[in-house]
Amino acid sequence: MKIAVIGTGYVGLVAGAGFADMGSDVVCADIDADKIAMLQRGEIPIYEPGLEKLIAHNVREGRLSFTTDVPTAVAGSAVVLLAVGTPPLPDGSADLSFTFQAAETVARALTGFAVIVTKSTVPVGTGDTIEAIARKHARYEFAVVSNPEFLKEGDAVSDFMKPDRIIVGTSDARALAILQALYAPFTRSSDRMLVMDRRSAELTKYAANAMLATRISFMNDLANLCDAVGADIECVRKGMGSDGRIGTKFLYAGVGFGGSCFPKDLRAAINTGIEASVPLRVLEAVVSVNDRQKHRLAEDIRRHFQGDLAGKRVALWGLAFKPGTDDLREAPALVVIEDLLAAGAEVVATDPVAIPAAQALLGQRVRFAPSNYASAEGADALALITEWRDYRRPNFQRLAGLMRGKAVFDGRNIWEPAEVCAAGLEYHGIGRGQQP
Ligand SMILES: NC(=O)c1ccc[n+]([C@@H]2O[C@H](COP(=O)([O-])OP(=O)(O)OC[C@H]3O[C@@H](n4cnc5c(N)ncnc54)[C@H](O)[C@@H]3O)[C@@H](O)[C@H]2O)c1
Repeated sequence: MKIAVIGTGYVGLVAGAGFADMGSDVVCADIDADKIAMLQRGEIPIYEPGLEKLIAHNVREGRLSFTTDVPTAVAGSAVVLLAVGTPPLPDGSADLSFTFQAAETVARALTGFAVIVTKSTVPVGTGDTIEAIARKHARYEFAVVSNPEFLKEGDAVSDFMKPDRIIVGTSDARALAILQALYAPFTRSSDRMLVMDRRSAELTKYAANAMLATRISFMNDLANLCDAVGADIECVRKGMGSDGRIGTKFLYAGVGFGGSCFPKDLRAAINTGIEASVPLRVLEAVVSVNDRQKHRLAEDIRRHFQGDLAGKRVALWGLAFKPGTDDLREAPALVVIEDLLAAGAEVVATDPVAIPAAQALLGQRVRFAPSNYASAEGADALALITEWRDYRRPNFQRLAGLMRGKAVFDGRNIWEPAEVCAAGLEYHGIGRGQQP
């Protein structure tokens, strides 16, 4: 089956490579000429474990290619995936201009019946608008299907290759049969395809992200209470999570959630609620708790130094919004850095992969160190923001020897307070109550 993928970002690139790996002939198109030139040279524009190998293999096998010419990609394709960005507009609603522009170009370029599949996260009802746009410009029959993507950056390849569910929103039997054929290699061991109407499929993606984000903000709210009343959120988390009805995932207190999806998708869902006159009060609270939480660590550091951070050096571990990616979109680290700089501190930051991306954003305002220990040299305080595996078990004795001060702020609660304190350092977590 020939398929076209429009938009070669995190989703389009992974989906294109994944479908090619299962035997489809895939052409990935993007309007960003630099990105396509890199891909044609065999370079990968994003950091995503396993992706480089997957792309190289399928390019070599002749099943995967890249172009800036969307009509060439679309010609002869049975399936066209729309995987363009849907970034937030200033009012929080999703900017659908890329989606609609791509839909028009695709519709004009059809050379026969094709299924236009929306992989991008789009508000309820967007499929109807895409259908109307396509009807205006297409000379051939088509079907518009919602097939939201649930991959996680950092695990994107394995999430895509082994999805826990494939949501397909359509009432068109012909389109469904084509998608069943396309996804057959992914559902061989168990049928994980859930078929529903298009609007429900569109909303399912927002509902899933909203629930995950709700769990995080709920835990952050509780963590702040733990600090006030001398309880430890880590004990509370384990106690709660062992209840099978609750489960252990996404119950971690920390410096708040970021990334390209949760913040923008929550705001877009809230906006949909407002437009439908059904305000989503829980989600409004989730966003406001998260916005506050992103400032919490810098406030703790400032309080530790009696409000005076002038000339204090803070080593900052982890810039990416989560481990396994170089994506800095809405990363909590950026908020912590701005707060520390505004208070007069010097920041020496490090990250296993996101330093080039951070340098492009922050320039000379922050010093970047090549390793976690290098960043800690002469630091008055250390702040862990992203729980990269490399940072999970540092040598605290060595750190104590390198740092000028003693304060360690664990923004993800990944360290054992007693172990940190045994090295002569002072531990500060999120919601860990009174420490020895
Ligand atoms: N990043 C994730 O983890 C993730 C996970 C699930 C769903 N999503 C959703 O998938 C969508 C894409 O996300 P992303 O992170 O891959 O975005 P991205 O910003 O990394 O990539 C989008 C790409 O689309 C290209 N593009 C824009 N308009 C185009 C057009 N008219 N024709 C061709 N290409 C065009 C851009 O140049 C860009 O390369 C968004 O709706 C997002 O919410 C993202």
